[in-house]
Amino acid sequence: KVLVLDYGSQYNQLITRRIREMGVFSELKSRNMTAEEIKSYNPKAIILSGGPKSVYEENAFTIDSEIFNLDIPVLGVCYGMQLMAQELGGKVEANPGNGEFGQTVLQQTESAGRLLADTPVSQTVLMSHSDNVIELPEGFKVIGGSDKTPIAAIANEERRLYGVQFHAETTLSENGKQILTNFVKNIAEAESNWDMSGFIDEQIQKIREIVGDKKVLLGLSGGVDSSVVGVLLHRAIGDQLTSIFVDHGLLRKHEADQVMTMLGGKFGLNIIKVDAQKRFLDKLSGVSDPEQKRKIIGNEFIQVFNDEAKKLDGIEFLAQGTLYTDVIESGTDTAQTIKSHHNVGGLPEDMQFQLIEPLNTLFKDEVRELGEKLNMPHEMVWRQPFPGPGLGIRILGDITEDKLEIVRDSDWILRDEIAKAGLEGDIWQYFTVLTGVRSVGVMGDYRTYDYTIAIRAITSVDGMTADFARMPWELLQKISARIVNEVGHINRVVYDITAKPPATVEWE
Ligand code: XMP
Repeated sequence: KVLVLDYGSQYNQLITRRIREMGVFSELKSRNMTAEEIKSYNPKAIILSGGPKSVYEENAFTIDSEIFNLDIPVLGVCYGMQLMAQELGGKVEANPGNGEFGQTVLQQTESAGRLLADTPVSQTVLMSHSDNVIELPEGFKVIGGSDKTPIAAIANEERRLYGVQFHAETTLSENGKQILTNFVKNIAEAESNWDMSGFIDEQIQKIREIVGDKKVLLGLSGGVDSSVVGVLLHRAIGDQLTSIFVDHGLLRKHEADQVMTMLGGKFGLNIIKVDAQKRFLDKLSGVSDPEQKRKIIGNEFIQVFNDEAKKLDGIEFLAQGTLYTDVIESGTDTAQTIKSHHNVGGLPEDMQFQLIEPLNTLFKDEVRELGEKLNMPHEMVWRQPFPGPGLGIRILGDITEDKLEIVRDSDWILRDEIAKAGLEGDIWQYFTVLTGVRSVGVMGDYRTYDYTIAIRAITSVDGMTADFARMPWELLQKISARIVNEVGHINRVVYDITAKPPATVEWE
């Protein structure tokens, strides 16, 4: 495995990502790891990431310099290279210009050696820095430079210490992948032996060791992450796992049943299903402000979960579907504390659990791959994102059982037609919204005065920005006709053609 020490760059995830793509396991860890700790972690190679600071600043992020004496190959990237250079006796200063940002040409020196092997003498790389290494530490040589940065890649072949000023992990460095492969596979001689099956075995063993004969609690939402955690844990510890599934009545059609028949039935998880529909509807009755609705749903959810959890005896662990990205977003140093606030959200003080987060080294698509390896059904593993407050934020205005039925039925038709058209994989997220708008229509020979359904279908990478999906007209026509015909109290269907920003994906 390859250890990446986190100095705060926005590209950190990409480094571990690239290395995993080589079949070598890689993890991002705190920059505060000592040489001792690293030694016991036993990595094949260490990468020091980039970061926003200056190494000569007062509060600069530092490194235990014994790390360079472990006889483990080290590659410093950007800040990482500057830190290595400074620690080993070189010098770093502000770039005399305004720094160097964007794609730049890197020119190899004549004896560039192993790190830049099999890449062109002159190649495009991504630069993003305001400081330069201006003096090399002893034993190092320059292996590449750019116009503004004469020392842009350095090497000490004997000690297997390397540095690149550019971001080899992004695709904007055209040969970045080759350079990282040179380092990990050729210089550090890491073997490609990591894949999802190995991960499953490893995790199962780890979970068994940690849990022993104790009991674990899991909150199942029906989403991908918690479902995968459930199946994985069940495989590891069987009935020592109890899951709580709160049906708040704001789920899509057949969704609660699917969780029960699939996870409870086929996979045999021990699930306590809490039918809390009435409790939620009562609390939400007459409330139409979106933020207030979200708050009520969130709080009620925690209360229901806690009420159930309190009934259970002897639970010592709480399992969560925290992903790698959640950990990174909270910062690797502080992850431990932030997580418990973040995801557990509002567990009472007197309930003390230890957390188990078996997915916290995985990216979303890796979790899906894991789910497939665990034989979970495709539709569960590739489920589109669904918000915690559920259909509650897809009904504008106050929520009633009748309105819920309208959104559920129209959403079902939309999903059915998109599946029939084979477009499930092309549209990132799609759903219907019951707008509060009523308008006049004519059905048969009668005048109607009924509700409007909006269809929202978007393309996106991460939900942060989105564009409306260019659905075929014929398909929209079919969906519209079916909704008006099959769902009561709908006489008009509209298609939302706004991007995010300025709109959001959900309507509330
Ligand atoms: P917005 O509406 O913020 O949605 O553009 C972006 C993505 O986030 C989902 N979403 C939520 N997910 N809890 C969640 O777990 C929430 O409260 C929530 N609100 C929105 C939304 O479905 C979309 O994928």
